Amino acid sequence: MNSHKFPEDFLWGGATAANQYEGGYREGGKGLNTSDVLTNGSHTVARRITWRNPDTGETGSTGMGFGAQMEVPEGAVLDVIDGEYYPSHVATDFYHHYKEDIALFAEQGFKCFRLSINWARIFPNGDDERPNQVGIDFYHSVFDECLKYGIEPLVTISHYETPLGLTNKYGGWLDRKVVDFYLNLCRVLFTEYRDKVKYWMTFNEINIMGMAPYMGGGLIKSDEQSKAQAAHHQFVASAKAVQLARELSPNAKVGMMVAYGVTYGETCNPADQLMVMEGSHWAHFYTDVQCRGKYPNYKLKEYERNGIDLQMEKDDLEILANGTVAFIGFSYYSTHVASAVKAAEQGGNFMAGVKNPYLEANAWGWQIDPTGLRIALNTLWERYELPLWIVENGLGFEDVLEEDGSIHDDYRIAYMKGHIESMADAINLDGVNLIGYTPWGCIDLVSAGTGEMRKRYGMIYVDRDDSGQGSLERRRKDSFYWYQKVIQSNGTELD
Ligand code: BG6
Repeated sequence: MNSHKFPEDFLWGGATAANQYEGGYREGGKGLNTSDVLTNGSHTVARRITWRNPDTGETGSTGMGFGAQMEVPEGAVLDVIDGEYYPSHVATDFYHHYKEDIALFAEQGFKCFRLSINWARIFPNGDDERPNQVGIDFYHSVFDECLKYGIEPLVTISHYETPLGLTNKYGGWLDRKVVDFYLNLCRVLFTEYRDKVKYWMTFNEINIMGMAPYMGGGLIKSDEQSKAQAAHHQFVASAKAVQLARELSPNAKVGMMVAYGVTYGETCNPADQLMVMEGSHWAHFYTDVQCRGKYPNYKLKEYERNGIDLQMEKDDLEILANGTVAFIGFSYYSTHVASAVKAAEQGGNFMAGVKNPYLEANAWGWQIDPTGLRIALNTLWERYELPLWIVENGLGFEDVLEEDGSIHDDYRIAYMKGHIESMADAINLDGVNLIGYTPWGCIDLVSAGTGEMRKRYGMIYVDRDDSGQGSLERRRKDSFYWYQKVIQSNGTELD
């Protein structure tokens, strides 16, 4: 049985992030972010972080720290260097197109729009005493434009970027001082935009720290001790931000955001099922801390076993307990299969598992599993009973621009239809409290994992390629009109 009813006030929209969409790299007094020194890559070539030694002039690059240590020579700092291409510098140029883009979202009928704050646009070095007024004004204009069309902004405070100054000077989130710098940013945001923004999320995919510490926390170390400590600092920062919002912007709702994965066991071999349990610990550690306000025992035991010595200040546990979130935002792209005997082969941008023979995958190996979304929604709802918001979901695909300028992306429509049906089932058949859906990259933007443009998620096409060529012109794909109808019918018309 399928029932496609959605609540009257369901928040249909789309999602983006400054580091992949905004561009305006050095404009309006913006400083550098960690994403500004990330090169492009591809499905087979990893993105790299560039550095320069200011004394010798020597330059070079290092990996992003997936499983291996990053290597930045003594005396060098992360920086933009000649001869490299950095896709975030222009990205798909929201900075100069925001009016046009928001008008397109309004044409689709968006009720909400997810974007992130470019931290170095507000605090160019991260530790500046005063914020940059031009940056503050930019987001005022963006929010005004949204509100003009009745579009509710959903704002991620930090999405895969840390001001580069905080990485070069303090080592990113490894240093406790960064908690205060982040709260300086929150103070500006909650004060300036208190009448314009109701929904905030403190960190994008906070659990990415465990896999991609540079992206998640501006770290140039990837050992377990550093990642655990940096994650602790983000927990404290998030909990303090929740408390700050209560004081400065009482109507605000501050949520968390996690990359959510459902893990299936390959067989009923108990060893596979044990891996499923470990997958659940992996998936729920961050939500447990931010929704229940304390570290779960399984994680404390794991830290103890692995000799991880978390440095906490005396009030930290109380801060965590008093700063739990109002809702859970999560990304859902695919599911993973755990096997005790086979090596991982199939995955997403930061996760991997063995191939699921029952599922199709896209060209990047991301398996398509709408049913897994219903399972994810039920699991999160049963565990926390907090409002849920799918703030990312979508299919990365190499679209074809036809000669007449049209883009026929029926594969994307099929993907979204399947996932929306699962959402409806979770609401109507299982009683899950799902409040919104913002598919990822509602307009084409740069891939976080590969730095490519060819891996497109958008319902709006942007003329830009992997080498930075293209007019940046926007075009409506077939999915644009399809989603417009979905929103107009509040999810009842999916064909
Ligand atoms: C999520 C991120 O992991 O997945 C986004 O929050 C990212 O920033 C999205 O873009 C899709 O991943 P990718 O690697 O295809 O861009």
